[in-house]
Amino acid sequence: MKRLDGKVALISGTARGQGRAAALRFAAEGALVVGGDLLHEQAIETQHLIAREGGTALTPGPLDVTDEQSVSSWVEEAVDAFGGIDIVYANAGAVRFGPVDSRPYQDFAFTMRAELDSVWLTVRSAWPHLRRSHGCILTVGSTAGLTGSLTNRRTAHSASKGAVIALTRQLAAEGAPHGIRANCISPGLIDTAGSRTNLLSDDHPMRAIARHIPLGRVGGPDDVVNAAVFLASDEAAYITGANLVVDGGWSAVLPGTSP
Ligand SMILES: NC(=O)c1ccc[n+]([C@@H]2O[C@H](COP(=O)([O-])OP(=O)(O)OC[C@H]3O[C@@H](n4cnc5c(N)ncnc54)[C@H](O)[C@@H]3O)[C@@H](O)[C@H]2O)c1
Repeated sequence: MKRLDGKVALISGTARGQGRAAALRFAAEGALVVGGDLLHEQAIETQHLIAREGGTALTPGPLDVTDEQSVSSWVEEAVDAFGGIDIVYANAGAVRFGPVDSRPYQDFAFTMRAELDSVWLTVRSAWPHLRRSHGCILTVGSTAGLTGSLTNRRTAHSASKGAVIALTRQLAAEGAPHGIRANCISPGLIDTAGSRTNLLSDDHPMRAIARHIPLGRVGGPDDVVNAAVFLASDEAAYITGANLVVDGGWSAVLPGTSP
């Protein structure tokens, strides 16, 4: 028996990066994956990759997780196709970095909407179905929600991801009476298409800071997805309200060299 056999998993941001890796892995673990992304064609590619491996996936249409109607249609398509929802993995996000004194308010609002409102909208739409299935929620925070950074100026991102961690704890509280678990995964620096456009671009100073990751490397999508599979599976039946940091020790250990 696979670890997610027969579970219907709604995963946002499946066009690339951690979302694509999650879709592929959840399907390989036996889940019926309902994906979605603004980049619809690439999300369909993910669906084809899953089908090629013998898995089951559906990508109903272009998804905008910041749009209430789009999210609600996505959830309804999932329920129509598979009869319910067991796992919600609110992974999609987009960010605008920049120092507090030189960025327009629109950048702050964009980031909050893409990284925080999106999670709330997704969970709110799926909630009645999660109540029925006694399902589980995975949110994606960040070490940015736990620590400040001298190198990466990111007030909006820190605020949105800190709020996702707090939101998850509240969802754990409100979900517990219904048998719904809610946990957050907070990645550190992960090599994806998204991070290559900013923090991991060739000339970004964060590349040098990454030398201080105690486990000696930048993470990959599978590092995050391994944690996600565990938290979504019955192995985590007694875990809710957690924030599992997946960062190679980056946020826990001060920079330095061993003697
Ligand atoms: N990569 C990192 O270093 C890192 C670190 C910490 C947290 N995270 C978080 O992990 C999650 C996944 O990030 P990633 O690195 O895979 O990024 P990515 O940019 O490679 O992938 C994000 C996906 O989300 C989609 N998306 C963005 N806005 C959307 C919207 N409004 N509606 C639907 N889809 C939308 C994008 O099109 C893209 O396919 C995000 O929540 C991100 O904040 C990433």
